[in-house]
Amino acid sequence: MTVSQRGSDLGGIAIAEGTPPQLDYAKVRAYWKSARPSMLGPYMMDGFGFPVGAGHFRFRGELKAVEDAIQHLGPDTSVLDLGSGVGVWAEYFAQRFGKVVAVEASATLYDVLKEQCSRYPNVTTHNCDVLSFDLKDELEHTAVTEPAGGFGLVFLGGLLMYLNDRDIASLLRKLIPHLEPGAIVLCRESTIRHGTHTKQGDYQVVYRSVETYQSILSDAGFDVVSVQANTAYINVQMACELTKKWKSLLPERFHCLPIAGRLAYWGYRLGYPWNTRLIPWIMGKIGCEFPLLTNHFFVLRPGGQTVVDRRDTRECGSQRAEQKTEKVC
Ligand SMILES: C[S@@+](CC[C@H](N)C(=O)[O-])C[C@H]1O[C@@H](n2cnc3c(N)ncnc32)[C@H](O)[C@@H]1O
Repeated sequence: MTVSQRGSDLGGIAIAEGTPPQLDYAKVRAYWKSARPSMLGPYMMDGFGFPVGAGHFRFRGELKAVEDAIQHLGPDTSVLDLGSGVGVWAEYFAQRFGKVVAVEASATLYDVLKEQCSRYPNVTTHNCDVLSFDLKDELEHTAVTEPAGGFGLVFLGGLLMYLNDRDIASLLRKLIPHLEPGAIVLCRESTIRHGTHTKQGDYQVVYRSVETYQSILSDAGFDVVSVQANTAYINVQMACELTKKWKSLLPERFHCLPIAGRLAYWGYRLGYPWNTRLIPWIMGKIGCEFPLLTNHFFVLRPGGQTVVDRRDTRECGSQRAEQKTEKVC
């Protein structure tokens, strides 16, 4: 295993140039078992002193990108939500679509998910690991669209970063036979600008670049038909990183997070959406990558169903090709 620590390039985030270290799934499970079952917990926004409204702001911002991606899906669509957290998205899908299957591994978050979705008869919840979840069994017992059957939408909201490359590929391949014609897989993942960084310790996660995700996703048999920066995430992430810096500079008794966190959050929030492009751009000009973490939506279709047309579009702190697709069969 060769891992090159080019931390200075990314202000502390190291890039793996060889085979990246593997996640320890026992630690991933332990982290999520003890996560706070709040709106902010699964969004990784706890502990900064942000108001709960920060979670709602991010959700509303993400909703625009999600609605854009799912606008072609009819109300009878079946949705598979993998790694559902407390069910913020499962609830939204339940209101909009015919059937939702939500899978969450953390018992702590699952209890809230189950409670949250109990008022929707079209939602089935499962407390298990997505890698061992038996899709065939689920479809045989609860599918609504026979005989073609299958899911029209699979939502992976911040799940792939808790899986090793090999498991992402096997999970995605497992999905293909269960997708109905025209189905999409919508992923929302935290990203870095270059390479791959695997965080070790109690909080284990893999941060990958957009290019790395594109390569993993296409190796798994999918066409990446669009990639879009998650500007609401980037806005809140700037406040997270500023607050982290504040916490690292001062002794704990001076943190005053309920004030400092709110100031950071509202400072960035008031400049949204312009500052999500402007600030990373200015920081880039002075050789500083900020924020270190970004986030993107990836829309996938099983390979062979689409033709990809690349169009240049501006993105957070860099130029990147956005891919748009026309369905040909
Ligand atoms: C960043 S949170 C996102 C939650 C939710 N999708 C959202 O967008 O609010 C990631 C979720 O994935 C779950 N998770 C991670 N690995 C998993 C696995 N192998 N099987 C099932 N759930 C998993 C975690 O417990 C956590 O709830």
